[in-house]
Amino acid sequence: MFQYMITGGNPLVGEVVVGGAKNAALGIIAAAIMTDDVVYIDNIPDVRDINVMLEAIQEIGVTVERVDRHAVRIDASTIHSVVVDDEFIKKIRASYYLVGALLGKYKHAQVALPGGCAIGSRPIDQHLKGFRMLGAKVDVNSDRIITQAIDLIGEHIYLDVVSVGATINIMMAATLAEGKTIIENVAKEPHIVDVANFLNSMGAEIKGAGTDVIRINGKTKLHGTEYSIIPDQIEAGTFMCAAAISRGDITVTNIIPKHMEATTAKLLEMGCEVIEFDDAIRVVGTLRQRATPVKTLPYPGFPTDLQPQITTALALAEGTSVITENIFENRFRYVYELVKMGADIDVMGNKAIVVGVQGLKAAELSAPDLRAGAALVLAALSAEGLSYVKDIEYIQRGYENFEDKLQLLGGNIKIVAVEDIGSTTIGDSIRPIKIYK
Ligand code: EPU
Repeated sequence: MFQYMITGGNPLVGEVVVGGAKNAALGIIAAAIMTDDVVYIDNIPDVRDINVMLEAIQEIGVTVERVDRHAVRIDASTIHSVVVDDEFIKKIRASYYLVGALLGKYKHAQVALPGGCAIGSRPIDQHLKGFRMLGAKVDVNSDRIITQAIDLIGEHIYLDVVSVGATINIMMAATLAEGKTIIENVAKEPHIVDVANFLNSMGAEIKGAGTDVIRINGKTKLHGTEYSIIPDQIEAGTFMCAAAISRGDITVTNIIPKHMEATTAKLLEMGCEVIEFDDAIRVVGTLRQRATPVKTLPYPGFPTDLQPQITTALALAEGTSVITENIFENRFRYVYELVKMGADIDVMGNKAIVVGVQGLKAAELSAPDLRAGAALVLAALSAEGLSYVKDIEYIQRGYENFEDKLQLLGGNIKIVAVEDIGSTTIGDSIRPIKIYK
């Protein structure tokens, strides 16, 4: 068991290089098994969820060659099973992409029900609706999604909710369906566009990714490709927020600034200086930033995956901010931890009312999920004194070398074994948090 030991209080300053987008890579690795030719993928982040996905496809016979830390060669001509059910795949969300990929290619898939961060009920009804409309029979038992079709036939599908996962999954299956598929009310996140571009580079015919309507002309076969994954918008946004939280000066490089517009807008409203370059953004925090409202929305709205990070920044801003979480109903669990540090935040249904305080106090913290974990690390780096963040395996699901990147920015953070801590009493709870339903 390991945890972060953090001595906070100094501004984070310097340059940080962002890696490939985890959530694009998860879809792209699944899509790579839809051809029997060799696929080369570059700019893959070396994070836990990706490694679980790569291991899962190996379990069903796919040959995965690690070319280097961030590149793989995938050969799915050796697949011997459409049943993906190993003990690790159950823990990640993106296991569901193997349903779309295998159903498209083999018209049959049996995949463990998805896990992922506990940030809400996270139904998959829209994925299943899409597969059914394409002509598949879908059964869900206590631990597996089982789907089979004689043929998949293109359809006109309207998604009742805007879903990243359902959009990518249905798009994959429809790529190898017969005829035309139109999917309406789709998600528009940059990783949707990246997965569509990847599939197109394999010979798929997908138009409209990045808009509300995706049109697909089904193909009988896909071919091999070489592809480089886009930069991770959420990792970039996390470091942009880090500049605000630590009142530092961080240049985030290897990014697509257009993808960061919602984050840039909020940091500007808070009074940060934000300077855009071709493939970088510099964020300069001020001694006291200003409150601002934030509402999470599907792209191009403010991403739910940056909600804990911006809330942490607003916990230190002048004035009262209202944060509205519109995507996942259980994404404020980390607020308990911030309150332990002296933040003044109350949660009322899907809103957090944040009254900014001057500073946070060191504390013993626990990461409740991936993004909240990252936010708590940044909170600890801003707080004078010694903090610990445990359950860091959540953070390692989606951030590569998080501690190394923060150290390069001047953060005093290291990984220690839990038993190395000794008996220290850190921080205390200043008041209980009020939860209104
Ligand atoms: N939803 C449904 N039915 C469905 C699918 C989704 O009601 O069939 C609802 C969800 O409950 C949620 C909303 O629609 O309220 C949006 O969910 P979406 O399907 O877009 O999320 P997801 O595919 O489960 C992906 C990312 C998440 C990210 C969300 C939103 C992956 C592997 N996960 O999840 O990433 O928060 O999109 O952008 O791509 C993370 O990286 O930390 C993370 C949680």
